[in-house]
Amino acid sequence: MKFFIDTANLAQIQEANDMGVLDGVTTNPSLMAKEGIKGVENCKKHYVDICNIVEGDVSAEVIATDYEGMIKEGEELAALHPHIVVKVPCIADGIKAIKYFTKKGIRTNCTLVFSPGQALLAAKAGATYVSPFVGRLDDISSDGIELVEKIVSMYRYYGFSTQVLAASIRTTQHIIQCLEVGADVATCPLAAIKGLLNHPLTDSGLAKFLEDYRKVNA
Ligand code: E4P
Repeated sequence: MKFFIDTANLAQIQEANDMGVLDGVTTNPSLMAKEGIKGVENCKKHYVDICNIVEGDVSAEVIATDYEGMIKEGEELAALHPHIVVKVPCIADGIKAIKYFTKKGIRTNCTLVFSPGQALLAAKAGATYVSPFVGRLDDISSDGIELVEKIVSMYRYYGFSTQVLAASIRTTQHIIQCLEVGADVATCPLAAIKGLLNHPLTDSGLAKFLEDYRKVNA
């Protein structure tokens, strides 16, 4: 399973990349706003800065919600850097735009996916990635991981090449659950990625090894 980091924060992206386990980055307009990045040109510069850190796919989301607007914006974003994947919302014009981008060889991430039917349309349009939102479904007492599992099964059964990118991951446990149901990618906050390292037996085992080493090497 590939690991993407779900942030527009350059320091966090650098830290995850330095760990040597990062395969890509996802951003969205909220994450860009959180970093205080405003204006089209500043956003574009920030996407290029991210692309220059990570050797992998970087999702940059269109703001337009009409077909023509998405095409114009998506083509501009894709031209910024070879790592850019154009992120498009799962609405009717978005599906149409994904079909257009697919024909042009521009990679896409169909975002805001909350049902198998939406994932089916994204795959039929040729999306590179589909993003089911795990945490937001859990927030409304639905089951986000179950949706990931259903989409993975559907894509395997019908042979779709669209990769399942589990998004809206909130916890380390979500990452493990994504592994268990066969997600192709999980995009996660840095804290959830680092949480994978935590185990009290690792900490106590290391402390004991060092203590024993010091006993004879003091
Ligand atoms: C990434 O592609 C999504 O936009 C992001 O994971 C959404 O996460 P959230 O539900 O925590 O805002």
